Amino acid sequence: MPLIRTEKELRKQLLALTEPTSLGLVPTMGALHQGHAALVEKAVEENNTVVVSIFVNPTQFNNQEDLKKYPQDLTSDVSMLEAISPKIIVFAPSVEEMYQTNVSAKSYDFDGLENVMEGAFREGHFNGVGTIVEALLRLVSPNRAYFGEKDFQQLQIIKKLVASLSLPIEIVGCPIVREPNGLAMSSRNERLTKDLRNEASFIYNTLIKAKNKFGTKSANYVQEWVSNQFKKNPHFELEYIKITDVDTLSPVKKKQRNKKYRAFIAVYADNVRLIDNIALN
Ligand code: PAF
Repeated sequence: MPLIRTEKELRKQLLALTEPTSLGLVPTMGALHQGHAALVEKAVEENNTVVVSIFVNPTQFNNQEDLKKYPQDLTSDVSMLEAISPKIIVFAPSVEEMYQTNVSAKSYDFDGLENVMEGAFREGHFNGVGTIVEALLRLVSPNRAYFGEKDFQQLQIIKKLVASLSLPIEIVGCPIVREPNGLAMSSRNERLTKDLRNEASFIYNTLIKAKNKFGTKSANYVQEWVSNQFKKNPHFELEYIKITDVDTLSPVKKKQRNKKYRAFIAVYADNVRLIDNIALN
């Protein structure tokens, strides 16, 4: 399986592809799990050639401790990808390769999508995501790029990025993959103790109950209710629960029948920050 470290070598490989071809890109930060596997499998189904990038992007971490502890295991990532398809091109550049000497993010305006939830609690996060995703999209020029709905806000921001740069790339969102107990798959789950990982079913179970309540109650009522559930649970500390319009990510004032809504949550379990979300209608 081709494992490529430099932009130059990747360009060479891509130029050597025989036409006609369709190219899929799956950007990741490695520590691959079944959620990533689902993205890669979809990309392999829909494209002749697939590039998976593995790059822990320093500019999207607002917390240096989180960056330091971010799990990395290139060998196991490569064998997981190899099992999906040995034809996948793995691009695993160094920080110097992607940023040269200037490890900093560009500044974007995503029409306010970047100022709420993850953007409000992780300063500069979406500038970092935008910077690396733009660089990867420009480098690979795929027909399609795949992102998970666990990072739903990121997905909406990347759609906005591609539209504002007029890049002819389809952004494909893929459903959240969950552990058997309902916990959304995440590379950070590896940092939870076994007990806490079991207890974490509470997050998704609470979201399901919130969805049921949203059928008859207001967004404010449901947010308040979720907050109270977390106050009663000693294992988790709620950072936010927000019910928003899916397109604008703005809070719901009054429910409207023609609008789609989603609930978003961020929670600390010990020092591990977990996020999840659920479609409400
Ligand atoms: O979702 C992620 O893993 C990252 O934010 C991404 C899109 C690979 C950019 O670094």
